[in-house]
Amino acid sequence: MTESQWPRHVGIIMDGNGRWAQSRGWKRLQGHMQGADKVISIIEAVLETEIKTLSLFCFSTENWKRPITEIQVLMDLMYKFLDKQLQRLITNNVRVRVLGDMDKAPSLLREKLKNCVEITQTNNGLNLNFMMSYGGRDDILQATRKLSEKVLSGEISIEDINENTFSKALHTSELDDPDLIIRTSGEFRISNFMLWQAAYSEFYVSPKFWPDFTKKTF
Ligand code: FPP
Repeated sequence: MTESQWPRHVGIIMDGNGRWAQSRGWKRLQGHMQGADKVISIIEAVLETEIKTLSLFCFSTENWKRPITEIQVLMDLMYKFLDKQLQRLITNNVRVRVLGDMDKAPSLLREKLKNCVEITQTNNGLNLNFMMSYGGRDDILQATRKLSEKVLSGEISIEDINENTFSKALHTSELDDPDLIIRTSGEFRISNFMLWQAAYSEFYVSPKFWPDFTKKTF
């Protein structure tokens, strides 16, 4: 592939951890653990390409409705991942961002994420976005509120609201829209992933469950 053929921004809906585990007669949580182990190999695969931005759908606004034990495991896996991989990300000039509303997350994880974002903010290699407590509808709503407040305060007028200013009010304000969205586990659904930003994205569905999605598959 030549440089110009690479997508600039790839989003991944990492789906199928639960089914991967259940198909082996294991607990869903074991699927999440295997899934978390796959994340670094896919980041490494991306680092070998010309892809500039990788957005990983780690936890959706809907995921808060899952059993508390499952939520805790997912938060814990995220924390451990950052703890283990931060140095590697720094060495590879990766800039970490968190897209979403982390207010409900445990304070230790919030601190960890904040630290990763701050420590990597001057890096100019791969943009790595962890979409945590993210929902496309939620993103559109928070952008609408932000712009409404600006109208009310007189900072902007209603006529100033256009596609460009709206994009700049979303969590992805500093980033290009995704060119390619990959979803694993065979589901042809967008599931509240970057609804506004996905307007022109290509969509690829892999039949593999996320824990089986290897560097080679990518
Ligand atoms: C969907 O599987 C996946 C998630 C809800 C979370 C994705 C999280 C990870 C891959 C691990 C943590 C992330 C990092 C960055 C360490 P599912 O449980 O909905 O699967 P199912 O559809 O088969 O039930």
